Amino acid sequence: MDLEALNKIAVAMVAPGKGILAADESSGTIKKRFDSINAESTEDNRRDYREMLFRTEQAMKDCISGVILFDETIRQNAKDGTPLVKLIQDTGAIPGIKVDKGAHALAGAEGEKVTEGLDGLRDRLKEYYDLGARFAKWRAVIDIAGDEIPSGYCISTNAHALARYAALCQEAGIVPIVEPEVLMDGDHDIDRCYDVTEFTLKSLFDELYAQDVALEGTILKPNMVISGKKCSKQAGAEEIAEKTVRCFRSSVPAALPGIVFLSGGQSDEDATANLNAMNAGYKDRMPWALSFSYGRALQAAPLKAWGGKAENVAAAQAAFMHRAKMNGLAQLGDWSAGLEKAA
Ligand code: 13P
Repeated sequence: MDLEALNKIAVAMVAPGKGILAADESSGTIKKRFDSINAESTEDNRRDYREMLFRTEQAMKDCISGVILFDETIRQNAKDGTPLVKLIQDTGAIPGIKVDKGAHALAGAEGEKVTEGLDGLRDRLKEYYDLGARFAKWRAVIDIAGDEIPSGYCISTNAHALARYAALCQEAGIVPIVEPEVLMDGDHDIDRCYDVTEFTLKSLFDELYAQDVALEGTILKPNMVISGKKCSKQAGAEEIAEKTVRCFRSSVPAALPGIVFLSGGQSDEDATANLNAMNAGYKDRMPWALSFSYGRALQAAPLKAWGGKAENVAAAQAAFMHRAKMNGLAQLGDWSAGLEKAA
């Protein structure tokens, strides 16, 4: 393992003022997104949509450090024949790849899931490296539902799989993004989210240690510590920032170069405001860079502006530029709500 090379990639993924564009929606998920704008999910449409994002030059150059791709996209060419991977590289961003095969029912644990995709992963990683990927993503899903879910069994099997994936990535010269997502669905309060997130992170870092994964060449992609969507009491940005940073300080080793949040169904502006509150209030108390790896919170606005129509490309790119810029400022702790209104 070339740890120096892995560390260099990981540090570049969390460069100041930049974050990651998660554009790795699986075929099923992108269809859902396209359904919402009445666009057909064809191979060409998916290509056109993603090409439009990657060609938003200023957003990519100034605010995006890396892009997570789906298997189809990493093999696709732009309309003019340029590989999409090359479009991304030409902006200075790093191509990455989702390698998990989704969350499936966990045997013996009703309502809980384990992420699959380890079989054949070593060979797939080698191919993805040759296609230009320098980092990868694996997402585990932890649901909160009542007192019994999540079970310790669900958390430990997912942590074990995340560590096995991470070790294989590093062997292949690819930086693993480890993503243990504690879902924000449900009516639990922010303190229950804190406890489950803390337990999940401690289990994950135990497994990474047990399986010899070098943290200097790893990036964590977690949820924020946040109220469940259906909770009657919604915590604000200051409380979310304080609790998220406290939770991570107690469970995430300092050797890790960076943490990049998922947006998880937060509104665009909340995802930005919460990240900003952490960086504005706690930067000097955090050993790792804190940034974004947003899917919906970066793409909802451009997707809507685009609506599947070529004549809307400029408006969609402007919408993407705006969200990328707002989140880039939040990474620096320099965002304020007034900047949203000025747009
Ligand atoms: P969201 O930001 O939409 O949660 O997606 C990020 C992601 O990559 C989830 O795996």
